[in-house]
Amino acid sequence: MVRIAPSILSADFRHLADEVKRVEDAGADMIHIDVMDGHFVPNITIGPVVVKAVRETTSLPLDVHLMIISPQHYIKAFSDAGADIITVHVEACIHLHRVVQSIRDIGLKAGVSLNPSTPLSSLEHILRDVDMVLLMSVNPGFGGQEFIPNTFEKIIALRRLIEGMGVDIEVDGGIKVDNAAEVSSAGADILVIGSGIFTNRDYRKTIRDIKKRCEGLKKKKI
Ligand code: DX5
Ligand code: ZN
Repeated sequence: MVRIAPSILSADFRHLADEVKRVEDAGADMIHIDVMDGHFVPNITIGPVVVKAVRETTSLPLDVHLMIISPQHYIKAFSDAGADIITVHVEACIHLHRVVQSIRDIGLKAGVSLNPSTPLSSLEHILRDVDMVLLMSVNPGFGGQEFIPNTFEKIIALRRLIEGMGVDIEVDGGIKVDNAAEVSSAGADILVIGSGIFTNRDYRKTIRDIKKRCEGLKKKKI
């Protein structure tokens, strides 16, 4: 069954704790937290203090997506704040293997992320050392953008590459009720969904519809 990771970037920050509880009650499998530094991406969002507040609100796994340069300096801070999975961008790490190792050494799951134009070949020598690959299906920086269609080919190719490795594929950006099933049937294990959940009033219905459609398409294919 596909897992859903609501991105709190599109939540109502005036009531962040309520928003997190509402998506948890609605059937979310983890909480996706987008950390941006204004350098790696043209936007600034949140840091460890907010992650800590979310940690105190939910028992769901916290999936922390670092869109920052030099992420190696912040692994401990986000771990102390309560992250369960830390994902770093391949494009932001000079010593990617060392960063991934340091995330695992601290006892967390390690993810690596690729921007839309970064080829899968950049993962060749790191795939066996990670728990998750996050494929960006929009250019990182903002919620509410359009899904980039050539991500489908990338998901399908990555699925083949990771066979038998126990690595999850997470896809992030532009996923809504209408295209979620296609993304999942291409091979995604985890769907990050921000505006596609938080702009709907009924989170439970939205998450249920997404999962139902994903299961439906899977059965059709079998
Ligand atoms: C974009 C972020 C995404 C974003 C997804 O840089 O990494 O997690 O919040 O938002 P939607 O689902 O609205 O595209
Ligand atoms: Zn993200």
